[in-house]
Amino acid sequence: MKILITGGAGYIGSHTVYFLSDKGYDITVLDNLSSGDVNNLPKSVRFVQGDVTDPNIASLFNGEKYDVLIHFAAKKDVGESMTNPGLYAKENIGGMMNLLYNVDSLGIKFIVFSSTAAVYGVPDKITVTEECETNPLNYYGFSKLEIERNLEWFSNLKGVRYAALRYFNAAGYDVQGRIKTKEKGVTNLLPVVMETLTGIREKLLVFGNDYDTPDGSCIRDYIHVNDLASAHFLAMQYLISEGKDLTVNLGTGKGHSVFEVINTVEKLSGKKLNCEITNRREGDAAVVIAGADKAYSLLGWHPEHSDLETIVKTMMPLYGISGPARVGGEE
Ligand SMILES: NC(=O)c1ccc[n+]([C@@H]2O[C@H](COP(=O)([O-])OP(=O)(O)OC[C@H]3O[C@@H](n4cnc5c(N)ncnc54)[C@H](O)[C@@H]3O)[C@@H](O)[C@H]2O)c1
Repeated sequence: MKILITGGAGYIGSHTVYFLSDKGYDITVLDNLSSGDVNNLPKSVRFVQGDVTDPNIASLFNGEKYDVLIHFAAKKDVGESMTNPGLYAKENIGGMMNLLYNVDSLGIKFIVFSSTAAVYGVPDKITVTEECETNPLNYYGFSKLEIERNLEWFSNLKGVRYAALRYFNAAGYDVQGRIKTKEKGVTNLLPVVMETLTGIREKLLVFGNDYDTPDGSCIRDYIHVNDLASAHFLAMQYLISEGKDLTVNLGTGKGHSVFEVINTVEKLSGKKLNCEITNRREGDAAVVIAGADKAYSLLGWHPEHSDLETIVKTMMPLYGISGPARVGGEE
């Protein structure tokens, strides 16, 4: 079984590459290294530096064929997608279209695709299931939904089966500590908290403390990146054994508020965060939690590492943060 992984040198990609490499799969990573790092790949994988939008993409692999495509390569900054939609049209939609155009020359029969909770927009339910209406509020979410729709067409017309994995908030780092460098260009709460703690950012802005939640701050569902990695393996197995398409949310079904995240980071690091409460952001829902029962039942997937303390503890070494100083000497 040969697997082509685009964007495999990136944050979620590199964790998934490690998971599949541990299982002995034959893996080729294609990445343009715009935000990825080749040092985060195990030595056993083949690495090709190249771009998913390259019209001659098939020629990059010396005639090699792949059974499975796992497609991570994309731009992911929601704000940037609104100011520079052309870039997202080219990289996200265009990148996938180029790969779909080349499925025959690359031999691809199954596609596992990185989708996102952003396809739902602001959901009218706290727990978001796959049955909820898709109504993206930003061009990033729209680009992912367009890709899902195209995958459905290619499944119907060409029999290329796909899994669209709608991640909620990816967080944490490899529990075995094998990832060497941090995710680049972060905008999510947890890495922003870490950057504030280490002085990369001056202060953490908390957007609203008057939401209808127990502590007034927004609540989100954080999923550990090692758990996302295992879901890719299970989704790939599902496609191959069932021969059916799959669209599933990947989250824990539990949420943590902004203040809960801050308190946990302060407790585990022994450091105080510089925070400022500011106005609500337009379009932020009070609570967004994944209804992920479909992934649990169809894939037999269960997050193992996604409790908040494990997420934070696995991030701390990459940010050079140790725990609180021990008082009293030996344990
Ligand atoms: N991080 C999250 O919370 C999150 C949530 C939902 C969905 N996603 C999706 O998951 C995927 C991976 O995200 P990530 O967090 O690992 O991001 P990342 O930026 O760390 O990884 C993306 C990888 O793709 C590569 N890449 C980008 N454009 C490319 C191109 N044109 N050709 C070849 N390689 C290219 C980058 O160099 C990088 O290695 C993305 O599709 C993203 O939209 C991420």
